Amino acid sequence: MAALVTWGEELKTGWTFLDDDHHRFVELLNDLHRASRDGGGSEAAPAVLADLIALMTAHFDKEETAMRQSRYRLLSDHRMQHDLMRAKMDELALCIAAGSVVTAGALIDFMLDWLSQHIRRHDRDLARHIAKRVSVGR
Ligand SMILES: [Fe+2]
Ligand SMILES: [Fe+2]
Repeated sequence: MAALVTWGEELKTGWTFLDDDHHRFVELLNDLHRASRDGGGSEAAPAVLADLIALMTAHFDKEETAMRQSRYRLLSDHRMQHDLMRAKMDELALCIAAGSVVTAGALIDFMLDWLSQHIRRHDRDLARHIAKRVSVGR
């Protein structure tokens, strides 16, 4: 099972509107990870997952709007990454509803890994792009 992701400087983009959401995702995914490690029987899991899906859906929309408005060259690549995670969230919701603990655990591990890599690479690149375009609002 993958390690928990620790929130810290190396995951920050410098933009509060991104960092606050990312911080919350890390917390929610870590909560789900713990629940699945402890047997997956946590009654809190569906509620945590619902929060995670609501936040991530709104967050991806927010980033994609920022990409369109700032004419980000890598928009379609970045959106494909988000689409992958949207599909994984749907899969995870089905697994948790069905009580498929092992598959849910594997998906949560994948999502934790995806999140830290996506933030470091794709979201930071987007953050640098926005910083070049906007001089206020940080
Ligand atoms: Fe993001
Ligand atoms: Fe992103």
